[in-house]
Amino acid sequence: MPSPAAGPADPAPIAVVTAPIVAGAAHDAEAAALEAAAAELGVAVVSRHAVGRGRWLLQLSASRRLLTNGSAGGGLDEKLAVTSGEQIAVGEAVATLRQAGFAVLAGPPSEAYAVVWGRRNGPSWFAPEAFVCFPWSPVDRSAARLAVEIDPGAGFGAGGHPTTLGLLAGLVDPAVVDAPAAPGNLADLSGRRVLDVGCGTGVLAIAAALRGAALVDALDIAPAALDATRANAIRNGVADRVHLVDADLARCPGPYDLVLANIHADVITALATELRRLVSRPVGAAGPGADPEPPAPGGGGGLLGVSGLSVAQVSRLEAALAPLRTVHRHHLDDWVTLWFRW
Ligand SMILES: C[S@@+](CC[C@H](N)C(=O)[O-])C[C@H]1O[C@@H](n2cnc3c(N)ncnc32)[C@H](O)[C@@H]1O
Repeated sequence: MPSPAAGPADPAPIAVVTAPIVAGAAHDAEAAALEAAAAELGVAVVSRHAVGRGRWLLQLSASRRLLTNGSAGGGLDEKLAVTSGEQIAVGEAVATLRQAGFAVLAGPPSEAYAVVWGRRNGPSWFAPEAFVCFPWSPVDRSAARLAVEIDPGAGFGAGGHPTTLGLLAGLVDPAVVDAPAAPGNLADLSGRRVLDVGCGTGVLAIAAALRGAALVDALDIAPAALDATRANAIRNGVADRVHLVDADLARCPGPYDLVLANIHADVITALATELRRLVSRPVGAAGPGADPEPPAPGGGGGLLGVSGLSVAQVSRLEAALAPLRTVHRHHLDDWVTLWFRW
């Protein structure tokens, strides 16, 4: 029996999740400051190893107590909540410690998880200064202008698939998106409104937000994809600008300066009417679905990027999306990425 003086009992956790983080410190004082910052976040220091010349390697562990409203039945939703909670706990901790200036990497949640992802630790480059990598990839992020960290979770892909890389390459190409190249050679998407249809792990949405997009809406029919997108947006520090929206495109208000869709060609064809409605029209353009919203910067209307096509599917898809017209075409391996404008 609880004592009468006790407050309402805490709901039982369905799980306490932990996830590893590896951190480096250049000297004793930095190691101490890192430990203090971790303690403030409720992140435990598991071990501390001297690695020579006064430097330290610390292993941390983020944990989160996950609660359930009803019985802890261990169903799929609860399992997803555990995965998502684990990703969010570690993502929040890593983002916060990085903002404080510490060199921190998130480890894979388990060795089995790393093995499932084929020991592919290296980054996937999509532009000379831009790559996507796993949170635990041992790659120097400071050497790139754009580093997108993606934990695949239960969502689609880790960002390294040619269909994803094709869209990412266009997204950061100033000539494709008609944007200033700043800083460096990558497109500055400041002020753009972006929609990612079929966001999977959120890699396209997050890359757009990291390049400065003012607002990015992301949707997917798979709940696991939404969980992964949310966790990855937190991990990359852009959760304030990446919004999950209803998967029913008809209820998506739009329009957008950039619409991205890496989905099977048949799905894109089925969604063609809605996709056209969601791409903002050029200044002064009239016609069915014309909208009173301000046009894309430059006045030329919005852009639709579509990926996941074979060469044989291109003409059928172009016909389905007309009168939008193809303005760029990009081939990677056997895959084609198309960019459309009004
Ligand atoms: C090939 S994956 C692309 C994921 C991510 N955008 C990328 O490039 O890595 C396609 C995604 O589209 C989602 N999807 C399929 N049909 C959809 C639909 N009708 N509406 C929204 N999302 C859909 C799938 O669940 C899957 O996550």
